[in-house]
Amino acid sequence: MKNIYMDNNATTAVKPQVLEAMLPYFCEQFGNPSSVHWAGRMVGGAIDKARGQVAELLNCSSAEVIFLSCGSEGDNYAIKGTADALKEKGNHIITTSVEHPAVLETCEALEKDGYDVTYLNVDQNGMLDLVELEAAITDKTILISVMWANNETGNIFPIEDIGQIAKKHKVRFHTDAVQAVGKIPVDVRKANVDMAVISGHKIGAPKGIGAMYLRRGTKISRFMHGGHQERNRRAGTHNVPGIVGLGIACELAQQSMDKDYAYVRDLRDTLENGILSTIPEVKLNGHPNADFRLPNTLNVSFNYIEGESLLLFFDMKGIAASSGSACTSGSLEPSHVMGAMGVDIVLAHSSTRFSLGPDNNRDEVNFILQELPAIVQRLREMSPLYKRDEPTPLSCDDCRMVNKVCA
Ligand SMILES: Cc1ncc(COP(=O)(O)O)c(C=O)c1O
Repeated sequence: MKNIYMDNNATTAVKPQVLEAMLPYFCEQFGNPSSVHWAGRMVGGAIDKARGQVAELLNCSSAEVIFLSCGSEGDNYAIKGTADALKEKGNHIITTSVEHPAVLETCEALEKDGYDVTYLNVDQNGMLDLVELEAAITDKTILISVMWANNETGNIFPIEDIGQIAKKHKVRFHTDAVQAVGKIPVDVRKANVDMAVISGHKIGAPKGIGAMYLRRGTKISRFMHGGHQERNRRAGTHNVPGIVGLGIACELAQQSMDKDYAYVRDLRDTLENGILSTIPEVKLNGHPNADFRLPNTLNVSFNYIEGESLLLFFDMKGIAASSGSACTSGSLEPSHVMGAMGVDIVLAHSSTRFSLGPDNNRDEVNFILQELPAIVQRLREMSPLYKRDEPTPLSCDDCRMVNKVCA
């Protein structure tokens, strides 16, 4: 049995070219870039190169890129660092109810410190109302934080429009671009973003490396204290191999984005149309128009089925998908994103995410389409919620026995 990996929104395999570029920085070029001697100087250039590669993908200058450990750190830094730096100006933050926990829990922590947070609702398709967003801005608003694309549904938010609103009201704008980057164009200048966060392990670089775009001149309080790395913005000895890997992954993403978009979207659309047309009582979670979703993401609920049970059955067939986000799986609570979209609790529990990547192929999609109907049927038969076909009553007495009214 061949394994099929369709959980690329959780993490991706390191690309061979990325690994190859990283290898010399473990043993041969191992110096600390902060050192003045030859060993330090040897690696300084590699960091500069990687900074340029990240900047190129995001359309900013190298000086506006800060390397850090992961997307979660970037979101924490952007939000807490802004809240502290702008506390004299105000204490109000606007975000959405469908953000990743790295944003939501950071905002919740700030609420305990006296900040006031507005969590914008989404509609049943998981989209925001920008009139509501603009109306939420007050003279105390210091930050708008809206993700570029949602990790569970793949929904893409209108970041350029939000950037215009933020600019008009002179409010700082942070976006968690962790899922968008590498899959769709992320142009921070065009979108008028002040801070954008990306994570290496979602785009074929290793885990433990991320970066933040911080617009030149943006005031932010330090988050990590210690050394003076990253022009005093982020303490900690550089993860040189990780930084090199992130740089190459960004370059590769830029080179292949159009091709990957078309290829992955075609596979995802085939899977989506196949599931929706062959299995009854399935609900698509996310925008019905696939143009408003990431090309690789499909989130569907199979009525009457527990998502976790489905994943176990998938696993027995070698298929890796996910229910809810990787960070919340293991919890029995249905996903907060499904909850915010008003998805019925039973359907929310059955939400299943397939997140494809350029390494998937048509045979894998066909295999899932072939196996899925029987798995779903089997699980439905086991579900106490599933209404099996009731026998046709033989007579009016039988009707009364099963509490039915004859027409
Ligand atoms: C939208 C989003 N933001 C942030 C993160 C956190 O990134 P990291 O795993 O690099 O901390 C994730 C990871 O799943 C994500 O999907």
